[in-house]
Amino acid sequence: MNKVTTKTLFEKKQKGEKITMITAYDYTFAKIFDSCMVDILLVGDSLGMVILGYDSTIPVTMDDMEHHVRAVSRGAKYSMVVADMPFLSYHTTVEEAVKNAGRLIRAGAYAVKMEGCDDVYDKIEAVIKAQIPVMGHLGLTPQSVNIFGGYDLRAKEEAEAKKLVEDAKKLEKAGVFAIVLEKVPAHVAKEVQRSVNVPVIGIGAGPYCDGQVLVCYDMLGMYEDFKPKFVKRYAEVGNIIKDAVKRYIEEVKKGEFPGKEHSY
Ligand code: KIV
Ligand code: NA
Repeated sequence: MNKVTTKTLFEKKQKGEKITMITAYDYTFAKIFDSCMVDILLVGDSLGMVILGYDSTIPVTMDDMEHHVRAVSRGAKYSMVVADMPFLSYHTTVEEAVKNAGRLIRAGAYAVKMEGCDDVYDKIEAVIKAQIPVMGHLGLTPQSVNIFGGYDLRAKEEAEAKKLVEDAKKLEKAGVFAIVLEKVPAHVAKEVQRSVNVPVIGIGAGPYCDGQVLVCYDMLGMYEDFKPKFVKRYAEVGNIIKDAVKRYIEEVKKGEFPGKEHSY
């Protein structure tokens, strides 16, 4: 199978075929997810929380992102690798935004993701002009957590919902190839999905989106610090790991491991 491109995603939306996306942060997970033929691997700045243990995505740096993008891209043969541009890496000047987007592309990403619309519009345009595909991100934008004062549901009110649809259209006009839509009511997401030709990929945005994304550590049941309603746990890998490590400890203590078959 050919590697997933922006064209593949656009065609999927045209045909009404759902797009699948999952976060990945390292080579081994990337390789496993890629073998499942997921369309997009997102090296999300959620790595600040699930990999680095911060309580938000704000502390994540370009160096952090580059490091993980390199690892993931080595494991992706089929899936498209998209890298989040971290906090403050695209907010100062267009030059800075293009330079930082370029670093993530050189590290192996196919495209970058940028949160917001009006505040960073000129930067999104500049990165696309530099021939770097950009994925938008609207609704709940975690890098703005301290401006909003939390991670509440967005676009609950009519006015905010209208603005969201307008923003999605503006991003489409700027040339983004897809838009992530986070934590908004399902009927609002439906309106956004209908209003643009680019694929809308939801997280906590209901069933009408063109695709879905989840944080791998959430859907695998490994991240326990908090559990949003929109997460479905497809496995309890955290428990599987705990059982395995407990057995290992026990066997080492009892002298049962290593056995003859593991020894030279
Ligand atoms: O960082 C991330 O994992 C994300 C997804 C939740 C969309 O931006
Ligand atoms: Na993110």
